[in-house]
Amino acid sequence: MKRQLSRSRAISMSILQTTLFLLTLGTRMIPSSAQRNTKRGIAYLGNTHKSDNSLLLSSSSPLSWYYNWSPYPATEQIPLDSPLEFTPLVHGIDDAESSQTQHQIKSLPRSSMHILTFNEPDGDKDSGGSDIDPEDAARAYIEHIVPYHTSNSRGGRTWNISHPSVTRSPRGLDWLRQFNLSCYKIDEENGCPTDFIAAHWYGAFDGLASWLGTLDEFYNANRSDDTARLKIWITEMALPQANTHDTVNMMNQTLPYLEKLEYVEKYAWFGAFRTDDANEWTGDGVALFDDDGGLTKLGALYMGGEVNGFEEGDKGNAGTANLVKVNAGLLWVLAMFTMFVSSFW
Ligand SMILES: *[C@@H]1O[C@H](CO)[C@@H](O)[C@H](O)[C@H]1NC(C)=O
Ligand SMILES: *[C@@H]1O[C@H](CO)[C@@H](O)[C@H](O)[C@H]1NC(C)=O
Ligand SMILES: *[C@@H]1O[C@H](CO)[C@@H](O)[C@H](O)[C@H]1NC(C)=O
Ligand SMILES: *[C@@H]1O[C@H](CO)[C@@H](O)[C@H](O)[C@H]1NC(C)=O
Repeated sequence: MKRQLSRSRAISMSILQTTLFLLTLGTRMIPSSAQRNTKRGIAYLGNTHKSDNSLLLSSSSPLSWYYNWSPYPATEQIPLDSPLEFTPLVHGIDDAESSQTQHQIKSLPRSSMHILTFNEPDGDKDSGGSDIDPEDAARAYIEHIVPYHTSNSRGGRTWNISHPSVTRSPRGLDWLRQFNLSCYKIDEENGCPTDFIAAHWYGAFDGLASWLGTLDEFYNANRSDDTARLKIWITEMALPQANTHDTVNMMNQTLPYLEKLEYVEKYAWFGAFRTDDANEWTGDGVALFDDDGGLTKLGALYMGGEVNGFEEGDKGNAGTANLVKVNAGLLWVLAMFTMFVSSFW
């Protein structure tokens, strides 16, 4: 009896050991949740491919925020309770005036804290701009946007609002200057208050660095208090019409730069779509996914590369992340079962 008992003990111990070994193995196979990068997000056009979205949302994804040029989150693809903070955008004056937009923004969860406004007001409607006269913009901004910033409609909290995001050009800077003057003509004391600045950039790294410097100087040069320095969000950026090599190099130079630059608070690459879905103007070199839904070299880099376990060609799969969890769960059940059984031997 005693001998038998110790033999079954031995067997159960070895089962337990094997299970524990499998368990460690299982744990190791689960990609540890990446440190989400508080700056990195995506300018999201909507992507109809489930696998692409699941990769963007996966536990090892570094992304922490997104916007889609509208006040309506893309809940079908990116659930509201995902770790990606949704940032609403009020595209033009019509949207600012619309009670539907106002209602929609009020209904957003408290995880959304920032509002982007008028998209490329100095640009034509054909190219996604909102084509707004600086004076009209100032009037609409003060009437419809500033209240989000001042009224405690969210249980004591207010929204942080941004000035319109102009195109990167002398025309853009000129537009901002006129906008500012109009703001002070309407409200002599406050002008158009803003909590942060939104910037767009299409071009090479050097130009990006210089454009950010220009905006920082425009908004912050005369601020004596460094802590009150307005932060910049780059809400669209890419190197258009370039080959893979140049685009990857540009991004590789840009990401560490933006990470270090204290006055850059957020940035979003354009965009998280497949090469097929890129527009003619940017060319398909900007796409994070290839035609088959694999990450492009650029996509792997943006997702954090090797550090986060991403490489070129990796595909998302609506089921993968859950499958790994199920496996770990099964191993747990197996371990518990083994312990339970061995306690009877
Ligand atoms: C909102 O903006 C203010 C500056 O106006 C800044 O101090 C604060 O940190 C911002 N809050 C968030 C959540 O970004
Ligand atoms: C900052 O102050 C200088 C000197 O007073 C002035 O010339 C310049 O226009 C100001 N810049 C801005 C952006 O207000
Ligand atoms: C905006 O206009 C006001 C009033 O003229 C001026 O004091 C301020 O420097 C301007 N700001 C910028 C960023 O040009
Ligand atoms: C990015 O640059 C670093 C050196 O600055 C280099 O080691 C690395 O291979 C580059 N990555 C890509 C994807 O080009």
